[in-house]
Amino acid sequence: MTIKEYVKVKKAEIREYVLSMPRKPKLVIVQINEDEASYAYIRGKLKDAADLGIEAELIKLPLETSQEELLKKIDDLNHDSSVDGFIVQMPLPKQINEETVKLAIAPNKDVDGFHPLSKLDPCTPRGIMNYLNSKNIKIQGKNAVVIGRSNIVGKPMAKLLLAANANVTVLHSKTSFEDMRNYIANADIIVIAIGKAGFLDKKFTYKPDAVLVDVGINRLEDGLHGDAIANLPVGLQTPVPGGVGLLTRLALYENLLTIVNGK
Ligand code: GUN
Repeated sequence: MTIKEYVKVKKAEIREYVLSMPRKPKLVIVQINEDEASYAYIRGKLKDAADLGIEAELIKLPLETSQEELLKKIDDLNHDSSVDGFIVQMPLPKQINEETVKLAIAPNKDVDGFHPLSKLDPCTPRGIMNYLNSKNIKIQGKNAVVIGRSNIVGKPMAKLLLAANANVTVLHSKTSFEDMRNYIANADIIVIAIGKAGFLDKKFTYKPDAVLVDVGINRLEDGLHGDAIANLPVGLQTPVPGGVGLLTRLALYENLLTIVNGK
């Protein structure tokens, strides 16, 4: 099953479940940026909500919004009983501290799972783990290499792979090329999220049955590119577009329903 097919099946299940609920769940998305990738994500999220019968509202705040104003908005949403969960889309403008924002969102409304007390996992790593499990990909005892150490993807991804008993290595911008090559050559599972189009290419060697999960979304003149070139000699490679982005969007609504059910 391709990711598109997998997401379609899962969305049909969610739609049916939502129809059986006494009240439509409601998600709010707060956006304070003019980031192209964010616009694309948000368009996708709003479309998914419509498909799933979930209510979604976008609150667009001006770029010059102060941290205090945003914290007030978050406080309102924390106390608004008509809102089941919300996210503050990253990245944020310079005057706003990301960590302060993450801590301000009530853990029981934190659809992103960013709060340290949240029981949920961030959407991209959760979406990837769900997909690997649906493919019956063995994780326990496998060599998993995570390339990139962002708070949204790399770090939580490494944590989830470790919790699934993989041997996890996190590589990053300060890793030498030689080490990078050695770790990649021995990896059973590679997750890359560094925002560099085509970084993984044929200058590296891969295990023929390796699973390569490409989180990169790089917009070049000729379209969207992942952090890996297409069709590398591995067992399974997720495409870009039509790959991890769809899994992230699905996980967002799975997290929302987990919140609604936990009430
Ligand atoms: N920006 C890129 N990915 C994400 C995400 O998963 N959540 C939020 N809030 N912002 C993002």
